[in-house]
Amino acid sequence: MYRSGDNVAMLVQNNVPLQAYNSFHIVAKAQALVRIASAQDVLDVLAAPHLAALPKFVLGGGSNIVLTGDVKSLVLKVETMGRRLVGEDARSYVVEAGAGENWHSFVSWTLTQGWPGLENMALIPGTVGGAPVQNIGAYGVELQDRFESLDAIDLQTGRVFTLKAAQCGFAYRDSVFKHDSAADLQMGHQAIGLRARALILRVRFALPKIWRPEVGYADLQRSMLTENCPEPSAQQIFEWVCAIRRSKLPDPAHIGNVGSFFKNPTVSPEQCVDIIARDPTVVHYPLPDGTIKLAAGWLIDACGWRGKSVGQAGVYTHQALVLVNRGSVDGPDGATGGEVMTLARAIQTSVYERFGIMLEPEPVVV
Ligand code: EPU
Repeated sequence: MYRSGDNVAMLVQNNVPLQAYNSFHIVAKAQALVRIASAQDVLDVLAAPHLAALPKFVLGGGSNIVLTGDVKSLVLKVETMGRRLVGEDARSYVVEAGAGENWHSFVSWTLTQGWPGLENMALIPGTVGGAPVQNIGAYGVELQDRFESLDAIDLQTGRVFTLKAAQCGFAYRDSVFKHDSAADLQMGHQAIGLRARALILRVRFALPKIWRPEVGYADLQRSMLTENCPEPSAQQIFEWVCAIRRSKLPDPAHIGNVGSFFKNPTVSPEQCVDIIARDPTVVHYPLPDGTIKLAAGWLIDACGWRGKSVGQAGVYTHQALVLVNRGSVDGPDGATGGEVMTLARAIQTSVYERFGIMLEPEPVVV
């Protein structure tokens, strides 16, 4: 126990097993971990000179990370809780949730409160605080479509600040929270990177008062047809999305995984013509900006990866875009981060050699 002040006791845990805290269930330890239940807990960390000086790693639900070894940075495990209606206007209910809240439970709760809008993103693993980091999305709705603002705390100064959507740099599975400032400068992008710099405390969502179902996705169209339900309720869509996900994606409670391992790439129409010439069955979707999105799962599948393994890291049999841990979720026999990354690189190489496309990993490699 480290005491940082007269009334404040902050627990720093050492050598904390992280297997239960990452959805790949990779065995690794945090050399030091502090649970963050409020902004005050961060201020206590910053007030302790030996902790303040350490590099920090913010851990949410661990559903979008690959641990490649023990974590030497100070792990700040986000456990800020609470959910409530904080405002409304003619168009929206503004609903706030603590970053440590479970995402799916939050989605489910908003529906029971009569505030639809998040149902297409049901059953995405992880926490509310992780959702803006990678701008989660599924079945035609992305977090940025429902985002109002968030509060975060600066891990250098302890200052709490609010960001609106335009300040979060949302893009497909991307945000300022995934980038370091320096790396961004090198890449010639915006210089504001908040990775390891900010900890998200709470997120607010604008949920539409005039709700319309988002059922453009082929899987949802099929559900509407087979169930003969042309005007589904939000609860109905929620249930369809849960059923579709359960049929395609492994449940991380039983099989370690981080969902889609690569982003779906976009190509120019010329590149797409070239790829169609190589394989006319390639799954592709034209985007409004004229580019074309390809299904990374299809590309990986076409290279014969489905069901293949490197050590205990494997390609999921029902969805080639998902890499899985073939070991148990709580035993020592599972995949290492090294095996996962070796498999990922082998997949990248073979897709590149066959289609000329370099797939970009979705999770953060730690
Ligand atoms: N496909 C194959 N073989 C495979 C996998 C997919 O041919 O092994 C084909 C499918 O038949 C389909 C197409 O590829 O025609 C796309 O597959 P799917 O509908 O399963 O969606 P996805 O593009 O693989 C994306 C998101 C998912 C999200 C779903 C639904 C990314 C990287 N992934 O997957 O998000 O749930 O759409 O919206 O954008 C996640 O990010 O972790 C995630 C699960």
